[in-house]
Amino acid sequence: MNKKQLISIAIIGTVFTAAVHADTMVISKSEAIVNEFQGELKSKLVQAMKSGGPVNAIEVCKSEAPVITQLMSKKYNVELQRVSKKHRNPINKPDAMQTTILDYMESQPANSYYQEFGDNQAIYAKKITTAKVCLACHGDVVDASVASALEKHYPADLATGYKEGDLRGIFSVKWSANQHKNIGVKNLRKVDQNLWVGGQPSIAQIAELKEAGITRIINLRSDKEMKFDEAKVADQLGIEYVSLPIAGAKDINFENSRKVRKLLDEANGKVLLHCASSNRVGALLALSANEKGASKSASLAIGKASGLSSLEKVVTTLLK
Ligand code: HEC
Repeated sequence: MNKKQLISIAIIGTVFTAAVHADTMVISKSEAIVNEFQGELKSKLVQAMKSGGPVNAIEVCKSEAPVITQLMSKKYNVELQRVSKKHRNPINKPDAMQTTILDYMESQPANSYYQEFGDNQAIYAKKITTAKVCLACHGDVVDASVASALEKHYPADLATGYKEGDLRGIFSVKWSANQHKNIGVKNLRKVDQNLWVGGQPSIAQIAELKEAGITRIINLRSDKEMKFDEAKVADQLGIEYVSLPIAGAKDINFENSRKVRKLLDEANGKVLLHCASSNRVGALLALSANEKGASKSASLAIGKASGLSSLEKVVTTLLK
């Protein structure tokens, strides 16, 4: 590496370090907010159960839970929620994005989720699992007194019939523009600790990704599509670069999904798997999940969570 290259990388590095740190901070801040929220709800619930049993606790939950939710949202300047497909209070109904996350959580052993979207917005979600203590008010069989209290306060209640271990819902923390800064890569998503997926990063963003710990880039775009020499940029930054050109619909098949899986499995450390918009990435990850035994709908949910969009039809016809 010559001196000029070193300097340009150093400059990119300084300019974007702040953004990278902000990004990691958003996740840990979201985690802290959820922990505090969960702690408050739990202590209210436990107190109310102790002092007057579940019927009393239902009344306390009804009056306190929405207030705690609003106050904590205000305190941290975020939109904090607990949402569930089978909800008790209709204000806890998930929106389209939260529904996608719930589908994803149902099909994956993931405990949390983070995604940047739109104009500098982000969502963090944490899984809520049904525990034994929850069954008194959310289980298959509830006491007659509990059933009548629920009937009275929540005539449209959907939140019973859960079993221990079931996905009960998610804590959702939404950050809007200017509350956080992100790396800015289109559709960037951290699937887990070692796999990030997304669209095309710019040269500056590749430097940020390096700062964020990416050690290997797998690019599904063809050389023809590329506006700069990504292999060279990666090389200069000390990131391993692998090219696996996927031309479009005709290259979406199980053979290629196996190749992607192999490239992911053999990597040491954190990988960025990208194409132009993450559509091809999502398509191949859906096929890969399907081949590993995920159902059709679970595979589609996995693909969509990772960017599958216009290739959905192609993927659907291939899924087993
Ligand atoms: C004493 C009865 C009671 C117990 C026990 C209880 N809940 Fe609830 N739960 C409620 C009530 C009442 C609401 C509606 C609160 C509101 O109006 O916002 C609720 C709402 C929720 C929601 C928000 C989504 C929705 O359905 O509206 C989640 C998530 C939830 N409970 C999870 C749990 C979990 C997890 C446990 C066990 C750790 C648990 N609950 C134990 C009574 C209970």
